[in-house]
Amino acid sequence: MTTKNIGKPQDRVDGKLKVTGRAMYPGDRRMENLAYGYLLTSTVAKGSIRAMDTSGAERTRGVLAVYTPFNPLKLYRGLDSSEGANSGEIQPPLQDARILNYGQIIGLVVAESFEQARDAAALVTTQYDEDNPVASWETGMENAFTPEAVGGESATIKILSEGVSSIDDAIKDSPVVLDATYREPIYHHNPMEPHATTAVWQGDRLTIYDATQGVVAQRLDLAAVLGIDEDMVRVLCPFVGGGFGCKGSMWMFSPLTAAAARALGRSVKTILTREQMFTLVGHRPALIQRLTLGAKPDGTLQAVKHDVRSTVSFSKVFVEAAAHRTSRLLYKSTNIQVSQTLVPWNVGGPTFMRAPGCAPGMFALECAMDELAAKLRIDPIELRIKNNAEVFPGKNVPWSSKNLVECYQLGAQKFGWSKRNPEPGAIRDGDWLVGMGMASALYPAHRSQASVKVRLQADGTAEVSSATQDLGTGTWTVLAIVGADSLELPIEKIRPELGDSALPHAPTSGGSTSVASVTPAIQRAAESAKRKLIQFVLRDKRSPFFGMRAEDVVYRDGKIEGGGKSADFGSVLTAIGRGAVEAVEMAEPGEEEQKYAFHSFGAQFCELRVNRWTGEVRLQRITSVMDIGTVVNLKAARSQIIGGIVFGIGMALLEGSVLEEKTGRYGNANFADYLVATNADVPYVDVYFIDKPDTIFNPLGARGIGEIGITGMPAAIANAVYNATGNRVRDFPILPEKLLPLGLNQPAISMALR
Ligand code: MOS
Repeated sequence: MTTKNIGKPQDRVDGKLKVTGRAMYPGDRRMENLAYGYLLTSTVAKGSIRAMDTSGAERTRGVLAVYTPFNPLKLYRGLDSSEGANSGEIQPPLQDARILNYGQIIGLVVAESFEQARDAAALVTTQYDEDNPVASWETGMENAFTPEAVGGESATIKILSEGVSSIDDAIKDSPVVLDATYREPIYHHNPMEPHATTAVWQGDRLTIYDATQGVVAQRLDLAAVLGIDEDMVRVLCPFVGGGFGCKGSMWMFSPLTAAAARALGRSVKTILTREQMFTLVGHRPALIQRLTLGAKPDGTLQAVKHDVRSTVSFSKVFVEAAAHRTSRLLYKSTNIQVSQTLVPWNVGGPTFMRAPGCAPGMFALECAMDELAAKLRIDPIELRIKNNAEVFPGKNVPWSSKNLVECYQLGAQKFGWSKRNPEPGAIRDGDWLVGMGMASALYPAHRSQASVKVRLQADGTAEVSSATQDLGTGTWTVLAIVGADSLELPIEKIRPELGDSALPHAPTSGGSTSVASVTPAIQRAAESAKRKLIQFVLRDKRSPFFGMRAEDVVYRDGKIEGGGKSADFGSVLTAIGRGAVEAVEMAEPGEEEQKYAFHSFGAQFCELRVNRWTGEVRLQRITSVMDIGTVVNLKAARSQIIGGIVFGIGMALLEGSVLEEKTGRYGNANFADYLVATNADVPYVDVYFIDKPDTIFNPLGARGIGEIGITGMPAAIANAVYNATGNRVRDFPILPEKLLPLGLNQPAISMALR
């Protein structure tokens, strides 16, 4: 394999299709005989439906059907994650009249046009027997429960040193203790592309264009809910307009649409409205996290206690493993305890959201570390380096590759950390208070079984195909880059294919897993295809290499060479009358999983300013250093990290779903009121990679990078806000009103006034 293309900045091979509007997303599909679905959703959060009047809707021109719990389509239970699915929704809609959250599916109107379906939906009236919903921490705590497991481990993990009977004793024995509680609201993924599905039946066979991060798992889930064999379902999703986890599992509007299409003998397309995106396709749970850190005066950690309360819904459990994925492993402390409790609310089902567990957990842990550093009067980076873990706590296995200290040091140097004044509120620029902050970044490296087909074609091109996905992350281009280097061909000669469940199976693109899983299979399939090619050219009389010995013939730079002859593989295939030679290979992780821990790490820095009178926070610049193994595409890798950072800016300063306690309705389920970071909110972002291949993890040495970019950013921002103002906001997002009043009680400013 060459490395001509790996690690260089490459343009997206699908870029032109996207910017010219030719990339077809599931909602863009048009076909003969297409009808349009529009979902009816509940306007109460708890109770049951007493009656629905659909007569007005049914009389509307163009309406084909109105499905409700009183006129349902038969759907079956969804699979849970133990059944090979993606822990999508389990409870099928319309099978009973119960209401468990505001915005729940209570019907589907199908009409000849989208407008007819939407307008008819507005004519349906629904009567409810309404109960008071659970939509606050206060009311939810009555039903709190402990999950059976958190990420395969117990809900409470205690790693205590000998002679220490409890984490609280370790805290009591600590000379310096930091005890703080951090809160965050529900967050929504809000990808640009809303969820959409277009279902086409041919006899008993379903072809479904579905916005998903996992075509293979989606196929299995859909088949189960529709009560058909998975071989009868083909899921297509070549382009995803942003996923962030909400497209990582199946949501019930999709099989409901397919069932309607089956019943009506029509193709049906359903696209969710932006408001429906808040209640039908998941969110990140709300959290209350209590961090207690015990340290010696020199900063050595003696106790890390991290207790998490996270919300779930009454219809779907999802554990936001904020402590188990962070405090449980980031720092070496002689004593560590993490624990988790779940609190059900009447909201739609929660799910993975970019860096699940890590993003919220690192907000709490990395703010607490900053608070501890301030208390100890130790530099925050020094405190982190002092407590850097060389082995995975409690398991005592090393990391396959870990360069976190280098991240801190390189980041500090590139950012200019030495210019930071540790005294909060000390730096002013007119009406602006200026601060710097930093935090560690962390995300596990996942790899699973994946298969790839490599097909060398007589026209001199090569197809590299797999049922993986590109969420906008760059998988199309990764297939091309790694295919090109594995086959020693220019990128332009590679034809990637993905997003089709009929291709060799690959995992769901979640947990930053695709590059690490799929690239080893590309390398294997490429080697197999080359071997097959050589066998063919030795055996065929028409081949220039006919009769030569296998060991005398090699594949090099897209050519077959041997016996003083050299020919492009395409021309030889043509000469022997073959259209192509192909190989499918599978690759999966091996025994290394028992001997090592696999994580990516990083350090993130920011400088910002806070307006003294308005509390407005403006970011000035951001520096990130990431230790993610081999960089496959430098351009897309930077873009992934920047994307994560933009997500982190939103999480810290702007985003947050406002759940009305009395009604269980989101008060800001739209893009005017749910603010995501836009260009004007994002300053210059500097991204560096350590670029040390992690070849214990996989042959290419590449760990995933889709999620780690967000993980340190929220805490780095909160810590910089503290450094600027002296105010600790432990309740996200950091809105201006939470910072005000600023000014008169500020040490630096009162000094200036004196
Ligand atoms: Mo990502 S939240 O694992 O799709």
